[in-house]
Amino acid sequence: MELSEALTHDVVGIGFGPSNLSLAIALEELCGTTGEPGPAAAFFERKPSLGWHRGMLLPDAKMQISFLKDLVTFRNPASRFSFVSYLHAKGRLPRFVNNQDFFPTRQEFHDYLEWAQAQLSTPVGYGCEVTGIRPAGDDTAAAPVELLRVEVRGAGLPGGSARLHTRNVVISTGLVPRMPDGVERDERIWHSSEFLDRFREWETERAGEMRRIAVVGAGQSAAEILRFLHDRLPGAMLTAILPPYGYAIADNTPFANEIFDPAAVDDYYYGSDESRDMIWKHHRNTNYSVVDDEVIKSLYERVYGDEVKGRRRVEFLNLARVEGVKRVADETRITVRSLSTDAFRDIDVDVLVCATGYDPMDPAPVLGELDAYCLRDARGRYRVERDYRILTRPELRCGIYLQGGTEHTHGLSSSLLSNLAVRSGEIVNSLLTRQG
Ligand code: FDA
Ligand code: NAP
Repeated sequence: MELSEALTHDVVGIGFGPSNLSLAIALEELCGTTGEPGPAAAFFERKPSLGWHRGMLLPDAKMQISFLKDLVTFRNPASRFSFVSYLHAKGRLPRFVNNQDFFPTRQEFHDYLEWAQAQLSTPVGYGCEVTGIRPAGDDTAAAPVELLRVEVRGAGLPGGSARLHTRNVVISTGLVPRMPDGVERDERIWHSSEFLDRFREWETERAGEMRRIAVVGAGQSAAEILRFLHDRLPGAMLTAILPPYGYAIADNTPFANEIFDPAAVDDYYYGSDESRDMIWKHHRNTNYSVVDDEVIKSLYERVYGDEVKGRRRVEFLNLARVEGVKRVADETRITVRSLSTDAFRDIDVDVLVCATGYDPMDPAPVLGELDAYCLRDARGRYRVERDYRILTRPELRCGIYLQGGTEHTHGLSSSLLSNLAVRSGEIVNSLLTRQG
């Protein structure tokens, strides 16, 4: 990527997953129609190439969302970047339709994302990590800040780093893997987000050592990983540690699904604290700590099949939580607490997979010095305007936009793909309007 430190950008996107990919497309589509030169934009992604949760790109994993909730369709159904355009370009449109499935595999969707980014002309710096943002120029505390300086680190950059100037940033750095309290990752203790990378290393170098594996959690990641391990390691003994009695189904029924509609963002944003709490209470089970029915059924079939064959391969520790983990020689010793008896029990395994979920996106590490300009609510959360722009002290004249990390203001779809096309359009319109 050619970087000009002398150029003042209109917008710099930090992170290049589906959210900022959708934004880059919206910039091209919404600004390319006026005949004027479009805004100067650049994007940075710390990974060496585009990758959408590659560590969980399991062979049978399906999307949890309709293919029509792609990068663009809800904003611009005629877009050349749609999933349907992708299928057409790949010559698979008729067979996709014959297949009669709204939910493609994650592998096919990943291919779509790679295809879409290849059509873009916007520069993306891969292998470039944004390490901080600060006001450019005058350091006087009360001076108006008209320009930001984005600090980037990357082996491919001249001297290993770069600084560039911009009027706006859009932060989209993604979910943050969450481990059980006090548990650190290492070569035998994995988080689900890195599962396939770790599994492949072990499969090639020490497959024989994977005899006892525990999978913690009762969400989609845990169930998919358990099913995968059951298929791939017929000789292994698996232990599933889950807080509920059994895996609970993800509610994707039509009325409940309206919670992900673009209009639901307004209902959430302009609602009262009570209505927002109520939405979470009623509809958390559309996404968190739940599993698709197809995965639950296929997992149960496997477990029942084992019983018919007279060989139990999965032990379920339900109503249980992991309370601690320690290393005993080569063993990983897990302390499990029963939620029904409060009794503790230790289990030794070769590998522990923590499918224990994610924390929301946290912009603070990339905001760096700029964080001090951002306003927070009584609970310490960023105050965010309807157009996804953080409310800041008045002397900051630049825009800091968030894609993710807005569950408290914009609702359940904040960390998902559902509203991504519309949200990107709203952010681009805000950038254009506020810039005048
Ligand atoms: P995403 O995490 O995809 O991208 C953020 C990017 O920022 C990353 O590539 C990261 O490397 C980069 N980055 C971070 N810090 C950086 C820095 N300082 N400098 C430069 N780059 C940086 N949702 C849904 O609606 N339907 C679905 O089917 C699924 N499926 C799904 C599967 C799995 C396994 C998970 C964990 C999650 C989902 N999700 C989902 C939810 C998921 O959050 C969503 O699909 C998108 O990944 C959100 O896209 P983003 O671009 O916001 O984040
Ligand atoms: P999740 O839904 O947040 O589930 C995490 C699970 O871990 C919960 O059951 C939680 O139980 C449990 N847990 C946490 N700490 C624990 C402990 N100490 N001991 C025992 N259990 C513990 O996370 P996820 O399954 O990774 O899903 C995250 C997101 O990714 C969701 O949006 C999901 O849809 C998505 N996803 C999608 C796909 C796909 O598209 N195919 C695949 C995987 C994930 P409590 O709730 O009781 O704390």
